[in-house]
Amino acid sequence: MQRVGVIGLGYVGLPLALLADEKGFHVTGIDLDKKKLSKLKNHESVIDDEIAKRQIKESKVIFSDDFGLLESIDIAIVCVPTPVDKAKNPDLSLVKSAAVSAAKNLKPGSLLIVESTINPGVCDEVIIPLIEAETNHIVGKTLYLAHCPERINPGDPKWHVGNINRVVGAHTDKGLELAYSFYDKLIDAKIKKMESLKEAEACKVVENSFRDINIAFVNELAMSFDKLGINVFNVIDGAATKPFAFMAHYPGIGVGGHCIPVDPYYLIEYARTNGFEHKFLSLARNINESMPIYSVDKLEQALIQKTGKTLKGACVAVLGLSYKANVADDRESPSYRVIDTLKERGAIVTAYDPYILGKSDVKTLEEAITSQEGIIVVTSHNEFVNIPKNDSLSAAVILDGRGFLTKYKGTFLNKGVVYLGIGT
Ligand SMILES: NC(=O)c1ccc[n+]([C@@H]2O[C@H](COP(=O)([O-])OP(=O)(O)OC[C@H]3O[C@@H](n4cnc5c(N)ncnc54)[C@H](O)[C@@H]3O)[C@@H](O)[C@H]2O)c1
Repeated sequence: MQRVGVIGLGYVGLPLALLADEKGFHVTGIDLDKKKLSKLKNHESVIDDEIAKRQIKESKVIFSDDFGLLESIDIAIVCVPTPVDKAKNPDLSLVKSAAVSAAKNLKPGSLLIVESTINPGVCDEVIIPLIEAETNHIVGKTLYLAHCPERINPGDPKWHVGNINRVVGAHTDKGLELAYSFYDKLIDAKIKKMESLKEAEACKVVENSFRDINIAFVNELAMSFDKLGINVFNVIDGAATKPFAFMAHYPGIGVGGHCIPVDPYYLIEYARTNGFEHKFLSLARNINESMPIYSVDKLEQALIQKTGKTLKGACVAVLGLSYKANVADDRESPSYRVIDTLKERGAIVTAYDPYILGKSDVKTLEEAITSQEGIIVVTSHNEFVNIPKNDSLSAAVILDGRGFLTKYKGTFLNKGVVYLGIGT
């Protein structure tokens, strides 16, 4: 079997390395984070993923920070982060350095695949010139280059790296054949060959921009329907009975994670530098980024109506720091924007997330909600269904940012607690 190197062992790289190992490839995993490496060498997963936790117990993957180990590798796959900076500009520094460090060590005839999310043009205009300037390789002659964007959805019980369809694009026909043949052996899913690297790169940013735009649309509907007295969740469920040409998306307190709030900026910026302004994508980003503030506004208005008090000096519990339910990932989470906005308005905030106790102010749900005037549920963690519905609940207002406690609305109202959602 071929020798595979995976560079960057996080949510994308670790499941990939472990799957390749399970499928019989000889796998070397490279990461620069020494703490992660020591856990991985101890057969402990560094991501909260049931499949990875099982696979790592038996794994034969060699974990190291030494790029020199890639000398004997046939296929190296780059899975490092591609974030945006404070000004929301793409930061390609990690992907550039990982690709060059790998290429410096790869033998002639090997294949370099980028799985990190990148905008169209990065492989052709950034990575190939960089590799040719900084190594002895000529891409397409001594080293083949392909892009196969990862689509993994961490925590998803159905879709995982082994069964999600992929698209792959490459610099040359030979590169495409090598990449196709690798993924064909690795996954039990369809692989679509794209005509170019640029097309494959564009697929991923289009997929995530599609989701961002649809969420922005329903968030805008939620804000509109709040004024019109229409429950947007019921309307979306009604519209979704149409068997074609409608796809349900739901509003919420904000979009988080390493992908959806980040990837559209890669396309926006690349198009801008090539003379096109993506107004629609930028508007979607603005709407979704405004949701934490809209939610805090809604809580404050209800608090004023119910108690006559603003947020200044009010005690508010923020439930959930991660960006999605029942996982520990808080990258780009709207929770932090909610917390900052509450504090700017003078609220005394108690944050709690059962998956991220290290960043929580308290250790239990009970401690989090005791003696609070307001509660904001940012994440629909299963545990939050246990918010008491009896007299022990002190809060005057609950703002449910994920609309997952609506079935208790009547119970809360009977107890004199104002229950609000986003669009309900
Ligand atoms: N997380 C997701 O759900 C997801 C899904 C699809 C695609 N992606 C994309 O995949 C890429 C990786 O994301 P992730 O979520 O796995 O990130 P992550 O932060 O979980 O893991 C990245 C790993 O890369 C390591 N790293 C950073 N720079 C390195 C370098 N120069 N050399 C070696 N290792 C290095 C880090 O230490 C870290 O362990 C990003 O481009 C992301 O947009 C992520």
